[in-house]
Amino acid sequence: MSHSSEAAVKRITVPILQQWKEEGRRIAMTTAYDAVTARIADPVVDIILVGDSVGNVCLGFDDTLPVSMAMMNHHVEAVARTKPRALLVADMPFLSFHLSPEDTIRNAGGLLQRGADAVKLEGGARRAGMVRALVDCEIPVMGHLGLTPQSVNVMGGFRVQGRTSDDALRLLDDAYHLQEAGCFALVVEGIPAELAARATELLTIPTIGIGAGSDCSGQVLVLHDVLGLTQGHRPKFVRAYANGFELLQQALSRWAADVRQTAFPTPQESYRLPDNLRETIANWTPPSST
Ligand code: KIV
Repeated sequence: MSHSSEAAVKRITVPILQQWKEEGRRIAMTTAYDAVTARIADPVVDIILVGDSVGNVCLGFDDTLPVSMAMMNHHVEAVARTKPRALLVADMPFLSFHLSPEDTIRNAGGLLQRGADAVKLEGGARRAGMVRALVDCEIPVMGHLGLTPQSVNVMGGFRVQGRTSDDALRLLDDAYHLQEAGCFALVVEGIPAELAARATELLTIPTIGIGAGSDCSGQVLVLHDVLGLTQGHRPKFVRAYANGFELLQQALSRWAADVRQTAFPTPQESYRLPDNLRETIANWTPPSST
């Protein structure tokens, strides 16, 4: 495995990821939804995903279904303004790539015009036609198979996929068709590790796993999960590297306590009037109302 290209890489591109698959070099991908999270993630990862997970992570929805193109456009613009070095992939939300090739191309093209380098869409062979239509318009597409959150109602919940022989073989067939349709990479989510490993071995494009074991070409986790900012049920594939929620809340508590004890702000944290103006403002009184 050669990492000789590492120092020379200024911006991560689709062909670079293909090269890394050939070299066996692992890919790190995380989400960002705004300029702050993009600046945290960009020096660290290879791919930034503006995921439709913004719906449940940041916007308070129970799932990703209510996320609209307007919301995705807004968050992609915020992340793109930071001009990341990482490849910037934007999720196509529910119903934005189902209606017609024209609608799909317009929605995906709009994400690229706002600064995304590529789009990601969920679904298997049934979506291959839409993938082809996008690739024909020079829009790079990342596929997404397995536990696809936009299919929550069909799956009957967020359940591990590909555990029966029919499901496992369908997933491999879907992966193959997405690659043939022109996808440059494939997210595989919530599937047995052996199945993800087999897909990675069969495909020439990189696989990015989430809850899919270690034998993928790369891994993706939601940034807020890695930093321990999310609350509630945590799936077993999520490893939090900090207790961000508690850490940030403790910092905020110290500030609020300082405010209440008048320990914030200090004179050093305040602006001062020139001496000659102090008397001027001390002598001012409100105009008498007549
Ligand atoms: O929306 C998202 O964050 C995703 C990743 C979890 C792959 O699709």
